[in-house]
Amino acid sequence: MSSVLITHAKVVNEGRIAELDVLVRNGRIEKIGADLSSLKVDRIIDATGKHLLPGMIDDQVHFREPGLTHKGEIATESAAAVAGGITSYMEMPNVNPLTINRAALEDKYDRAVQKSLANFAFYLGASNDNLDEIKAIDPNAACGIKVFMGASTGNMLVDKRETLEGIFANSPIIVVTHCEDSPMIKLNEDRYREQYGEDVPMACHPLIRSEEACWKSSTLAVELAKKHGTQLHILHLTTAKELALLTPGDLAGKRITGEACAHHLYFNEADYATKGALIKCNPAIKTAADQDALLNAVNDGRIDVIATDHAPHTWDEKQQSYFKAPSGLPLVQHALISLLEHYHNGRFSLETIVQKTSHNVARLFQIAERGYIREGYWADLVLVDLTAPTVVDQQKILYKCGWSPFAGTIFKSSIVTTLVNGDIAFENGQVNSAVRGKRLAFNRR
Ligand code: DOR
Repeated sequence: MSSVLITHAKVVNEGRIAELDVLVRNGRIEKIGADLSSLKVDRIIDATGKHLLPGMIDDQVHFREPGLTHKGEIATESAAAVAGGITSYMEMPNVNPLTINRAALEDKYDRAVQKSLANFAFYLGASNDNLDEIKAIDPNAACGIKVFMGASTGNMLVDKRETLEGIFANSPIIVVTHCEDSPMIKLNEDRYREQYGEDVPMACHPLIRSEEACWKSSTLAVELAKKHGTQLHILHLTTAKELALLTPGDLAGKRITGEACAHHLYFNEADYATKGALIKCNPAIKTAADQDALLNAVNDGRIDVIATDHAPHTWDEKQQSYFKAPSGLPLVQHALISLLEHYHNGRFSLETIVQKTSHNVARLFQIAERGYIREGYWADLVLVDLTAPTVVDQQKILYKCGWSPFAGTIFKSSIVTTLVNGDIAFENGQVNSAVRGKRLAFNRR
């Protein structure tokens, strides 16, 4: 389809909401205006009563390819992403083999060109001995450098001080970190194992993956970034305490930024009682007070970006006891509508959701021609209906792992249509699996 006219949409963009028509032609937003109904087009979408948002750009997903494809694949997880209103994603290096050199990175791009329904970019992972690869990276070849300063799924811990100094001093592109102090976590694990044996209650996860473990690692990341002038983005913040490390206000000029994830904004420790290992993730979901502080930090700008950390594991893997059940949960299909719940609850404005899920991601990562509803930009768009509820029905879950932490939840909003580069990738509850995303381009020297 080469031209689509979206009429009477409430366009949420750049801090405003206005009823407008949007003309999409040859993949791009060609024109935005009050009334474009006289134009000849192939298809008209009447968006009366619905809101049009720039598609979410998710800066943190795990799609498990290559090597962990029993948990998820680029094809399945990107299909779930477009059904959830995510039009671009940046994918993590803890696969098998690890994405710690340029050849592994290019292999992923080759796979995504073939299979991905959404636009894509990949992180180069840091290891204890790949500084030369990091220094040599073409700034347009990776979205960033991922450093696991705390151990999580996969064997990617970077725990030598001098290695971290080298990465922070020399990375030519943004450094994104997972911050949890592994030695502290190990001590907590030993303590809880002594008390409970192997069957530690899942509710102990935030006490094992503790506030102190997050704080220790995040303060180190900030210290190193300040020392070396690094562009640092701290991923999936979970504690009120760590928010003191960040600066309120607009993203412009910040060298240190923070990300919160949809599940840490939606769940709190009370949910372990019903969800158990299904919401076990790293860093852990913490207290209601932490959740509340994260929600406030989104509004005051200490949190600049909201992402998913989509991290699927199989149902069977998740049925195991505490130490065996892997951390991570699948999220891309329902993350955006879970954020819209905070709009319905009066915590976020629609403009803020769009700023944190799209504008700021494009700005921080210097993504070219995406992240806004602007003439000339790629037509990555999501039409949402704030009045049509979504029941998270088992039959409609698109993840390869086949389960969702939101199963049975009724969200107040629904994703109606998703366009990726002007192509309708999701509509009427159906994914168009023929659509292919593009490699993200960056405005970097
Ligand atoms: O819960 C998590 N799962 N946190 C991570 O850092 C990794 C992720 C995964 O890959 O499973």
